[in-house]
Amino acid sequence: MFPFLLIVLLPLSWRISASAQPAQEFLHCLSLRFHNSSSFAKLVYTQHNSSYSSVLKSSAQNLRFTTPSTPTPLAIVTPLLASHIQAAVYCCRKHGLQVRTRSGGHDFEGLSYTTAYKVPFVVIDLVNLRSVQVNVEKATVWVESGATIGELYYEIARKSRTLAFPAGIGHTVGVGGHLSGGGYGVLFRKYGLGADNVIDARLIDVEGRILDKKSMGEDLFWAIRGGGGGSFGIVLAWKLKLVPVPANVTVFTVSKTLEQNATKLVHQWQYIAHKLPKEIHTSIIISRVNSSENEKMTVQASFTGIFLGSTDELVPLMEEKFPQLGIVKEDCFEMSWAESNLCATQCPVGVSLETLLERSQKSVLSKTFFKAKSDFVKQLIPESAFQGLWPKFYEDEAKFASMVFVAFGGKMEEISETESPYPHRAGNLYSILYVVDWEEEENKNSKKFMSWMGRVYNYMTPYVSKSPREAYSNYRDLVLVQEAATSCFWSCLSSKPRALVKKQARKQKTER
Ligand SMILES: Cc1cc2nc3c(=O)[nH]c(=O)nc-3n(C[C@H](O)[C@H](O)[C@H](O)COP(=O)(O)OP(=O)(O)OC[C@H]3O[C@@H](n4cnc5c(N)ncnc54)[C@H](O)[C@@H]3O)c2cc1C
Ligand SMILES: *[C@@H]1O[C@H](CO)[C@@H](O)[C@H](O)[C@H]1NC(C)=O
Ligand SMILES: *[C@@H]1O[C@H](CO)[C@@H](O)[C@H](O)[C@H]1NC(C)=O
Ligand SMILES: *[C@@H]1O[C@H](CO)[C@@H](O)[C@H](O)[C@H]1NC(C)=O
Ligand SMILES: *[C@@H]1O[C@H](CO)[C@@H](O)[C@H](O)[C@H]1NC(C)=O
Ligand SMILES: *[C@@H]1O[C@H](CO)[C@@H](O)[C@H](O)[C@H]1NC(C)=O
Repeated sequence: MFPFLLIVLLPLSWRISASAQPAQEFLHCLSLRFHNSSSFAKLVYTQHNSSYSSVLKSSAQNLRFTTPSTPTPLAIVTPLLASHIQAAVYCCRKHGLQVRTRSGGHDFEGLSYTTAYKVPFVVIDLVNLRSVQVNVEKATVWVESGATIGELYYEIARKSRTLAFPAGIGHTVGVGGHLSGGGYGVLFRKYGLGADNVIDARLIDVEGRILDKKSMGEDLFWAIRGGGGGSFGIVLAWKLKLVPVPANVTVFTVSKTLEQNATKLVHQWQYIAHKLPKEIHTSIIISRVNSSENEKMTVQASFTGIFLGSTDELVPLMEEKFPQLGIVKEDCFEMSWAESNLCATQCPVGVSLETLLERSQKSVLSKTFFKAKSDFVKQLIPESAFQGLWPKFYEDEAKFASMVFVAFGGKMEEISETESPYPHRAGNLYSILYVVDWEEEENKNSKKFMSWMGRVYNYMTPYVSKSPREAYSNYRDLVLVQEAATSCFWSCLSSKPRALVKKQARKQKTER
């Protein structure tokens, strides 16, 4: 009995002291480096603080990583000044703690506020660093990483109705993580990714130095524009090039169920969407609905689009290029580009532009429990493959599941694959985002939903990019990393380990 207890207790007490010790040493180090004890008390949260948990959860978008079993940081630092970040980086290194930088907290796997590897870590949350300074004459802006893209769009809109920035659609997404991984939205067929329009940056490196484009050197400046957040340093702020848009753009949505020939239209869209003029962005959102006619479950495809021009130009253009969809004037709404960002799910009938400033919003992807994955499509998918896919949407797990197809082409074809670390350029017809979300009471069954996602992903294997199967680094997916690790384990035991390991490494590089 006694020896058994000892064995159980020893590792436990060792673990406690091992984690308490660096925490205290880290905090002591930080307090010395902060110089100002009143700002230290205001900006550093430890697990003993009553607001620790609410601060931690404040921007955690995937509720899957806010449960009691999720590993939490030893401390959360919410810097007001660059020197606070430098202090936190210095003290983390000194005491062997990992740094997790958080801007908007939208990481699909929660990597900005938790860890999958059970190592002690500290969160540096940039929520207080979100100034946006627009220069209309020069059509540039300096934006701090902690701002959301909604805050960025709002500030641009306050200064000009005809300037825009080509980044994502979900306005609660943080600038920091988004630009680090690429960032695509309704303007990317015309102007490229957010990261393609970064012209300078301020970064804090592992030594705590503050670097700009010139002092960081070409390679590092290349890497931070699409190489993935949390990899190369902490980007404090970005200088961006703004792009021209008309005072009004046109937004449309046309929804079709299977009974209304959705399958045919989805199939046809593949031939057309990537070849449309750069001024038209289109996507399809696929989900299950109840048919309005007979209340029976069906699949619906919502074709949405944004056109940099008027309804009067768009309708005849679509009539010529995609007559089967049958877009009419009544499907179209004109509004400013900034307002069109509130159209992601439903067009802003009476929604004020200030909505762009709301940091925490419940939507398909945010503030829910979810698993998501991504794919790139380079070859037309046959109609029969879609027919085989739809029944997956009738399964129990798919109540809140969706797939989003986003048309590529345009400017994306013109930017070379090596121009930035973001490699998904020419030759892609469209990308796919898969999402399955579930409600809190279902979270104990999360495996069920993860497994549904796995089945859909496997089903799609023959139809999407191969060798390697590509994925978007901003749609982070740790299943890919786990799978790569497992297959490396087997390949390392096999007779030709080196070639396989190399191949694996190449695969991971593109997948991450
Ligand atoms: C609701 C929703 C909508 C989305 N819409 C789009 C879209 O339209 N287009 C698109 O391309 N993507 C979209 N995404 C994906 C999004 O671009 C990524 O999740 C992005 O990484 C989020 O950035 P963040 O700052 O909010 O996330 P965070 O979770 O804060 O950070 C993500 C990663 O970047 C690191 N990081 C954060 N800040 C910094 C920094 N300052 N310096 C260095 N590394 C940093 C983090 O450590 C983490 O590894 C969407 C995601 C969600 C949840
Ligand atoms: C310390 O920080 C607080 C704000 O956190 C500020 O008001 C005060 O002026 C600072 N004191 C010094 C000495 O810098
Ligand atoms: C954390 O708690 C201590 C003690 O209650 C308090 O003095 C300090 O201001 C708190 N820090 C923050 C960031 O709230
Ligand atoms: C579906 O397509 C068929 C033939 O392609 C056509 O006859 C029918 O009218 C279409 N149905 C709807 C609802 O559009
Ligand atoms: C669809 O119908 C089912 C059962 O008929 C019902 O439980 C569900 O709430 C309906 N969904 C919607 C979105 O109306
Ligand atoms: C934009 O469109 C709206 C809605 O049609 C219209 O009221 C407004 O006058 C237009 N603005 C401009 C600048 O064209």
